[in-house]
Amino acid sequence: MHGCIFSFTRQAEMKGLGHAILTGRTLTGMEPFGVVLADDLCLQDDNSQANVLEQMVKVFNQFRCSIVAVMEVPEDEIHKYGVIKGEELKDGLYKVSDMVEKPNKEDAPSNLAIIGRYILTPDIFGIIEKTPPGKGGEIQLTDALLQQAKDGCVIAYKFKGNRYDCGSVEGFVEATNYVYENLYLKGKA
Ligand code: G1P
Repeated sequence: MHGCIFSFTRQAEMKGLGHAILTGRTLTGMEPFGVVLADDLCLQDDNSQANVLEQMVKVFNQFRCSIVAVMEVPEDEIHKYGVIKGEELKDGLYKVSDMVEKPNKEDAPSNLAIIGRYILTPDIFGIIEKTPPGKGGEIQLTDALLQQAKDGCVIAYKFKGNRYDCGSVEGFVEATNYVYENLYLKGKA
């Protein structure tokens, strides 16, 4: 890709998403940065004018704080996700007041699940450093974001587009079929 420089860092121990992000600190410095969890494939649909990160950059430019992508999920799937509670500021934009990593459906604060797209402000690193291990004994980004929300502001954004869970066999097959039928056969991929 022209105009891009790729660097990488390695998480040597399996200590969770928060810890993984901390290993990127030397790459991003004091800039806000995007996080893309590759097992969540997000694609533009016919109604979305921009891809999910473009949409989120617009929201970031308005609020200048960390932004998380969310979508509504059925009750019996909520335990797979970080889940937010928030005050709806306007259509699809929520000021986060609570966040729970992979709750039981009884404890979930809403049906709005975090999808693997984030824009984070660099103060998150200092917060992650102080975040104790949470769900599953791992250092959870969700816990650090809740702290950031309490200290200032985190916005959840219900993005426009399709999302596929490529971390499951069904999701991976569904994504492959979608890309084949809607992009590849139409000469767009
Ligand atoms: C991670 C996050 C979780 C988020 C999910 C999205 O979990 O910890 O909050 O909802 O990604 O895919 P993972 O699926 O990596 O266990």
